Amino acid sequence: MKVLGIETSCDETAAAVVEDGARILSNEIASQVELHARYGGIVPEVASRQHLLAIIPVIQQAMDRGNVGWQDLGGIAVTNGPGLAGSLLVGISVAKAIATVQGLSIVGVNHLEAHIYANWLADCKPEFPLLCLIVSGGHSDLVLMRGHGDYAVLGRTRDDAAGEAFDKAARILGLGYPGGPAIDQAAEKGTASIELPRSWLKGTNDFSFSGVKTALFRLVETGKVSDTADAAASFQEAVIDVLVAKTIAAARQHQTKQILLSGGVAANRLLRQRLSDKSLIPVLIPEPILCTDNAAMVAACGYFRLQAGKTDGLDMDVVPGLKLV
Ligand code: KG4
Ligand code: ZN
Repeated sequence: MKVLGIETSCDETAAAVVEDGARILSNEIASQVELHARYGGIVPEVASRQHLLAIIPVIQQAMDRGNVGWQDLGGIAVTNGPGLAGSLLVGISVAKAIATVQGLSIVGVNHLEAHIYANWLADCKPEFPLLCLIVSGGHSDLVLMRGHGDYAVLGRTRDDAAGEAFDKAARILGLGYPGGPAIDQAAEKGTASIELPRSWLKGTNDFSFSGVKTALFRLVETGKVSDTADAAASFQEAVIDVLVAKTIAAARQHQTKQILLSGGVAANRLLRQRLSDKSLIPVLIPEPILCTDNAAMVAACGYFRLQAGKTDGLDMDVVPGLKLV
């Protein structure tokens, strides 16, 4: 079954066609990064208006590159939350229009769940039970997954999400936007020589990243940081130390078969390497382009929902604060 995925929850306008939830036929992404860079972050109204301009050409391109016609599709999967309401509305409205005209089924997909399903697009397939670490701009969640659609949230961040912390640290260090890739790159030229605090929150699976960010800010403010690359490397090390240790501990505790890494921060080179090196349990990580926002992961997730007989009606609404469970 071929599924068209549509993703417009934040600042990427994306469409993809995926076969059987596993094989990518096309994966088109129109990034708005340059548009928002001049503001130092995402401006919601600018994002929705740009989605409106880009969505039809991006979908057309996904259909053309995938060499599929409307009659070849088994359904349309579209992100309905969490995300920016105005951005989500663009994707859902277009999905509903196409579904109506072409007589196709439509299924709403949770963006966080889609991030997890990016792991089904690789050759090595996930095996349940799984421990998933979702680290994105808005979330840092440790999730136990026992089957398709079966989630238990073990822990989450109590303040900043990991990606948010990377973005804020980059701003503090004057590295610009988006911050995650900027820190990743700057860190490569530095050493983690600056001591920064780690928030372990022992006895829980929760995270906290505001302390390390504030500590970095104080050091910069008082002129105690002279080398930006060292500061970036030290910050990255502090965040990744905690993410890796707590993820491995939770996987051991729940005796999962594998660990799945997903979300934009999963594109970070040190996190990918450190988690794979330190874990005795096999670690699956999507290729970087499938870690950050894309529609192939939405189509993959939608396929499994459609297979389970789940569809949505044309009354489907956006849910900006949608939770995984
Ligand atoms: O999943 P995503 O593309 O969008 C959301 O759902 O939020 O994640 C975006 C986040 C941003 O905070 C970005 O700075 C971070 O992922 N990110 C990275 C890297 N690439 C993207 N963080 C660290 N290292 C990277 N290489
Ligand atoms: Zn995302």
